[in-house]
Amino acid sequence: MSAEDNSQKGQRVLWASRMGFIFAAAGSAVGLGNIWKFPYITGVNGGGAFVLVYLACILAIGVPILLSEFRLGQATGTDPISAFRVLEGKKTRWSIVGYMGVLAAFVIMSFYSVVAGWCLDFVVRSAQGAWAAGEAGTAFGDLTGNSGRQIFLHLIFIAGLVIVVARGVREGIEKASDVLMPVLLLLLVGMLLYATQLKGFGRGVEFLFAADFSKISPTAIVSALGHAFFTLSLGMGAMITYSSYLPEDANLVSSSVWIVFMDTAIALVAGLVIFPIAFTFDLEPAAGPGLIFSTLPTAFAQLPGGTLLSTLFFLLLSFAAFTSAISLVEVVVASAVNNLGWQRKKATSLVCLGIFLAGIPVVYSGTFFDLMDRFSSEYLLPLGGLLIALYVGWGMDADKRDATVASLPAWMQKGWLWTLRIVTPALVGFVFLNQIFEFV
Ligand code: PFF
Repeated sequence: MSAEDNSQKGQRVLWASRMGFIFAAAGSAVGLGNIWKFPYITGVNGGGAFVLVYLACILAIGVPILLSEFRLGQATGTDPISAFRVLEGKKTRWSIVGYMGVLAAFVIMSFYSVVAGWCLDFVVRSAQGAWAAGEAGTAFGDLTGNSGRQIFLHLIFIAGLVIVVARGVREGIEKASDVLMPVLLLLLVGMLLYATQLKGFGRGVEFLFAADFSKISPTAIVSALGHAFFTLSLGMGAMITYSSYLPEDANLVSSSVWIVFMDTAIALVAGLVIFPIAFTFDLEPAAGPGLIFSTLPTAFAQLPGGTLLSTLFFLLLSFAAFTSAISLVEVVVASAVNNLGWQRKKATSLVCLGIFLAGIPVVYSGTFFDLMDRFSSEYLLPLGGLLIALYVGWGMDADKRDATVASLPAWMQKGWLWTLRIVTPALVGFVFLNQIFEFV
């Protein structure tokens, strides 16, 4: 039995280094959410004011819940279903958070893996020089009109996941993230430098940062809150699972700061690349899910070395999607191994088969795509996050809880606790009420 298997059976295997953990957790956080989804929902919701609400949600809700999830994993060393049982010393209804996490993993993966397939397609098209041949405008439409090709690419992406997760993620993820995250960051900064040279740069910056609050609708607030959960991988136990491989003395606060910083910076830089391109080439910022797939190739087509850059960019985006997807699959696999006694290989194969099937309707129906996307980030993740905040704020043993933020000054410790107890439930509750009223 490998070390990986032991980690799921009570003997904890830990991350090799603190950096390794930070990059792996950042690898989960940074993904399609930052580079594909953030620009497109910002575009759809009118820009700057939405970005401000999103940043406020990250700080006021994301950071406190990230710390809570980290502590739940660190204090228990196990998957999100078992974690609550370990803390309560008995069967407990709080385990519902873990079960909801499993559901959320399937729902998210159903569309995430399809979009990752689009990225793979764009790696191939880029490498073949499609943009230089003038195909930038039609490529995305061709792809989404071809269901067979999308299913094939979705399958390839999932096959990659089976290989890595079945072997156990620790060796694979930690090493891969250590390399890929910094490279992605560098490449994005390079693209940012290019974007600053475009004539649409000023308008892009303005779109992203000039806040016109008349553009803020209740729907925009709901998507900002939902995206804060989605982008930080919160509310479904991914961060509980990853932090279960942390030693008891690891400082959770400083790791969280790094992860949130990287995640937010990468999303903003992606926006600063994509909107200037959109404005320069007269593309529609509110184009929806196809935004990066229509803007970026247009820019790459103009660039010397665009073929190489474009290939590299979509390749890294595929890797970013991959490290996030690993954490999604790992939540379900760890839970199945611990709670059903399945072998890791069997768990991984069955989970990935399930995800593959769940992705098929998404390929055929844009409505279904939208439904899965919104159901996960606007309902499942905020609800999971709300329950986590309530448990850590009100239910968890005080000594175990307070160890999370022991390194901070007293006022910050209090701030964290009362945010979990009152602010997060109030804000998330308010957003839910709004959803329900709108629905009715
Ligand atoms: N945070 C990932 C992204 O922004 O692409 C998506 C994600 C990964 C959500 C893992 C939830 C999760 F558990």
